[in-house]
Amino acid sequence: MERIPEPEIMDVPERAQAYADADFSEVNAAFVERLVELAGELDSARALDLGTGPGDIPLRLAQRRPGWHITGLDASMPMLRLAQAARTDASGRPAVDFVLGDAKRAPFPSDTFEVIFSNSFLHHVVDPIAFWKEAARVAKPGALLFARDLLRPESPEAARALVETHAADEHPLLKEDFYNSLLASYSTDEVKEQLYTAGAARIEVQEITDRHLEIFSAL
Ligand SMILES: C[S@@+](CC[C@H](N)C(=O)[O-])C[C@H]1O[C@@H](n2cnc3c(N)ncnc32)[C@H](O)[C@@H]1O
Repeated sequence: MERIPEPEIMDVPERAQAYADADFSEVNAAFVERLVELAGELDSARALDLGTGPGDIPLRLAQRRPGWHITGLDASMPMLRLAQAARTDASGRPAVDFVLGDAKRAPFPSDTFEVIFSNSFLHHVVDPIAFWKEAARVAKPGALLFARDLLRPESPEAARALVETHAADEHPLLKEDFYNSLLASYSTDEVKEQLYTAGAARIEVQEITDRHLEIFSAL
């Protein structure tokens, strides 16, 4: 099936709210555990979440790695407002910096981050090669890259079946977004090709569920 792109930025307030209201606790907790496992003993680091959305993942990560300085970047103001609202930790201290900006032109100097991660973001990106190059630019040499994203199914019918299997009881807007996101996702071969073209061919790409890819390596 050909890829059908969806709007890059999730800046419709109702859709941002439906996304923030959905229960992604299990997948987000699993994402953080895998990231912490890959990072090993790294006690202090600057970490960047690209396409942070409502910020649940970096806020969970801040609890697991309190010594890290974590920044979440998103180009959607409605999403960032939701992230800001969730931002303060139990001690009243802001645990994550949320920043407005485009991940293809990230507002950070080169060689800034030891850890770069993203979840469910790549399928939004219109120019993924520009995105991978930008991730490499802001990463320090030897940085850890970790991303998970959706995997494009064989057909629209297969996408619809995945929505009904995994999101049957969710808000209709969320189900529609999930379906559109599946159609907009990249295949494993496409992601490998992007990484190769961006000069990051050593990065691993693996299918980890019926609808998810995992991408990781030192950059
Ligand atoms: C499906 S949400 C995922 C949010 C979050 N990573 C999570 O797992 O809950 C994708 C997010 O990427 C953001 N986004 C899309 N394109 C972007 C870009 N070029 N730069 C920054 N953020 C972008 C969208 O606005 C949206 O908030």
